[in-house]
Amino acid sequence: MKQASPIPTASGGLPLLGHIVPLLRAPLGFLARLPEDGDLVRVRFGPLSALVVCDPALLDHVLRDDRTFDKGGALYDRSREFFGNGLGTCPHGDHRRQRRLLQPAFHPNRLCAYVPAVTARITETIGSWQDGEVLDVVAVMQELTARITIDTMFSTTPSPDVLNQALGDLNTLLADVTVRTVTPPALDRLPTPRNRRYQQARTRLPRTLHHLVTERRAAGVDHGDLLSMMLTARDPDSGSAEQMLADDEIVDQIVSFFGAGTETAASTLAWALHLLGAHPEIEKRLQAEVDSVLAGRPATHADLPRLELTGRIITETLRLWSPAWFFTRMCTADTRLGQYAVPSGTTILYSQYLLHRQADLYPDPERFDPDRWAPDHPSPPRREAFIPFGGGARKCIANRFATSTTVLALATIAARWRLRPLPGTHVRPAVAAVIRPGGLRMRAVARSATGTGAGPRSVEGDGVELTARG
Ligand code: HEM
Repeated sequence: MKQASPIPTASGGLPLLGHIVPLLRAPLGFLARLPEDGDLVRVRFGPLSALVVCDPALLDHVLRDDRTFDKGGALYDRSREFFGNGLGTCPHGDHRRQRRLLQPAFHPNRLCAYVPAVTARITETIGSWQDGEVLDVVAVMQELTARITIDTMFSTTPSPDVLNQALGDLNTLLADVTVRTVTPPALDRLPTPRNRRYQQARTRLPRTLHHLVTERRAAGVDHGDLLSMMLTARDPDSGSAEQMLADDEIVDQIVSFFGAGTETAASTLAWALHLLGAHPEIEKRLQAEVDSVLAGRPATHADLPRLELTGRIITETLRLWSPAWFFTRMCTADTRLGQYAVPSGTTILYSQYLLHRQADLYPDPERFDPDRWAPDHPSPPRREAFIPFGGGARKCIANRFATSTTVLALATIAARWRLRPLPGTHVRPAVAAVIRPGGLRMRAVARSATGTGAGPRSVEGDGVELTARG
């Protein structure tokens, strides 16, 4: 075998501290510069170190070999504190069994069945907006996507107070988890208001979600959704009638799905609306598409292939502002990655932001250009260079569900409203477990008031597609 090449260290590190200062000061800029140093680059944070994969082919190898490059290390130890051993955080040894059990909830037939509930929730949300109202876009989208996750996956209707508390707790946890992976655990025990809030959220969120499980078990109705699947699962190998998942395991899964599904989809929609606000020419084309495809009625599953530009806008938003912007793996055996030798115990880091902004993979990478995804584009992006949903066996289980939900939401909003940027507002990426458009407030202007579009009346439609499940 060829001799392994030495792994370059990222430039700009300091003795003892390593790269902790640029990482904490400007993490996105720091990541985006790493490919200049090599295709696999070592970074150091004080005593910790990780290898960052900067090349799509090497990353493909990492994502496909999920036994050698397993979930583990500081990020997952911290994430398991509140996601438990759910699908997104469990190690390879538990993963296949869990994924087999939960995958049917994302079968194409199920996705089609979720659409009426999704459309109903979107229509209800946008129906509550007032012409000229200023929206806190991220908060509105978070509530929308949280409700969609709960309506479709768990078929329950928590009160607004319960939902808001769950969302608040989720935000507290997600805001802290990334920082906690690089700070010493002793700091978590200090009685600061921030630590107290974190601890409270960590115990309260599972408790809130536990109620969902208890209520549904008591009701005993099979809704054919994710929660029903978990409540009725039996181990096919043992042939036993014993329930496969204990209530605590089900709560871990619910926290995982609620955590993974709410913030990511909400940020994608918020970024898309922000980008459209800044690109009125693309917004006009979007309006033309939704007016022609939907013609004033609610979107159905069958419309999705014809909402072609809407889909490309979501894809390009996911390229520029993948809400999930980095993940790690732990190397479980000595191995080779391309020309490099990687010892067991090494932390590997991959980043959507880093890969999606490389000029050799995406010409003019900072430009919002949905047409780079057009089917007849002469140089389409490389498959393995587009990883908003990760890849391999750990690829997002809900990638199709998330794509169709965000496309339906964007189309439904665009049919009825224009969201205008507020003059003088400065939108900046707010970086935590997901990247959100920080400070994004927009004015909702009814399209009927601008003299275009099918207008509010017709979007309410004839109700055929609006029957909520549950
Ligand atoms: C635009 C929206 C979304 C994005 C960008 C996104 C992104 C991702 C990514 C990148 C991963 C892989 C993480 C890794 O490599 O370690 C992942 C996994 C996962 N996502 Fe999503 N996600 C989205 C929406 C959702 C939704 C709506 C749900 C649930 C309803 C969900 C549930 C999950 C779960 C359970 C996993 C773990 C899968 C496994 O390990 O087998 N995601 N997601």
